[in-house]
Amino acid sequence: MQPNHSKRPRRYKTQPSNLAADFAKIRRNGYGRLILYSIIRFLLFRLDPETAHRLTFRLLRAMYALAPLRVLLRWGYRRNTPSLVTSLFGRELPNPVGLAAGLDKHAEYLDILCDCGFGWLELGTVTPQPQPGNKIPRLFRLPRARALINRMGFNSVGIDAFLTSLRRFERHCVVGINVGKNRDTPVEQAVDDYATALHTVYTTADYVAVNISSPNTPGLRGLQDEAQLEILLARLKQEQAALARTRAVYVPIAIKVAPDLDDVQITAMAQLIERHKLDAVIATNTTISRPGLERELLANEAGGLSGRPLKALSTDVIRKFHQALQGRVPIIGVGGIESADDVWEKMVAGADAVQLYTAFIYDGPALVKRILRGLERRVAQSGERTLAEAITKARSGVYLMR
Ligand SMILES: Cc1cc2nc3c(=O)[nH]c(=O)nc-3n(C[C@H](O)[C@H](O)[C@H](O)COP(=O)(O)O)c2cc1C
Repeated sequence: MQPNHSKRPRRYKTQPSNLAADFAKIRRNGYGRLILYSIIRFLLFRLDPETAHRLTFRLLRAMYALAPLRVLLRWGYRRNTPSLVTSLFGRELPNPVGLAAGLDKHAEYLDILCDCGFGWLELGTVTPQPQPGNKIPRLFRLPRARALINRMGFNSVGIDAFLTSLRRFERHCVVGINVGKNRDTPVEQAVDDYATALHTVYTTADYVAVNISSPNTPGLRGLQDEAQLEILLARLKQEQAALARTRAVYVPIAIKVAPDLDDVQITAMAQLIERHKLDAVIATNTTISRPGLERELLANEAGGLSGRPLKALSTDVIRKFHQALQGRVPIIGVGGIESADDVWEKMVAGADAVQLYTAFIYDGPALVKRILRGLERRVAQSGERTLAEAITKARSGVYLMR
């Protein structure tokens, strides 16, 4: 009997190509990177959170000095997503997923973060003068809950050093600068700190985020009260108009709000924001509440809670601001986003773009690409051409959330 040669080549041919297909699938879904990051995370999570953060970024910086590794990172995590192009502040973002404030407080990692696939970055919070922030420990991981509690207290190098650092980078991303008041500045003079900050960063920022919602600076959240907010917004808009005239460029101002607001506060804030023609609302910062964390020992640590337990609370605040503003002022949604479904939910609730922080710590850079891929799938399922069109359709109830 003649040996059957027709089978043998197929066995040798199909095996490598299956393997290649498997690798392609892993690459497509980012599982390989997720597995790799899980191992790295296991090691990093043995260290205290701030040391782990410093170490990670020092390592990345060292790797980044080598051109081939830089190219590899860019190739691995950046993604061309024409259907996700988003318009915000009159600018075009490659995708709506931004980095939330707090991860790069001193403008040190702009290039790396931009190459992780974020559509835009918000740096800071930076304060006018340098200040050390609260005593360490001030950052706590709650891995079971996929959450963090922080009471950093605006550790900042101060605006001058921040801008010196930022100006070293070539800019490939839209960059917002988040500003706050110094701890030692009395609350009655907080407006001056914000005005100084606005002046100093004005021509360097693509937009300025005014942070009046961190729970870790005494009295800061009081600036959200109607009377104080009125004074703050009036002053900032006055300064912005003057700057726009003298510098011949209009830099938008966004206001970042807390998730711990009641309906009356939200309504009052929305009215003020609209009346003063603020350019955007960022909803939300971390919460002082501890939803669903009864079994977590660290839940008693003072500070703001972020990550998964914040998700529903922040979406609720976005929905309420959207109901009040009806699209007249853009909303940036942030709080507990860790998947494309979470982004979708926030956008259907009223967000025009989103930001994330905590999930990036848990999942690493592969997260952004995974989210973008999921969003592209959502757009394709909706039958629309772009995410903006798909969201409009979903908001009108034509395409129901699954
Ligand atoms: C460690 C840490 C530091 C933060 N620092 C700031 C900050 O300086 N300024 C700010 O506006 N928000 C800060 N945030 C809040 C985030 O920008 C974001 O609003 C919040 O964490 C919710 O998003 P997330 O659940 O995706 O983390 C910080 C959050 C964390 C976890």
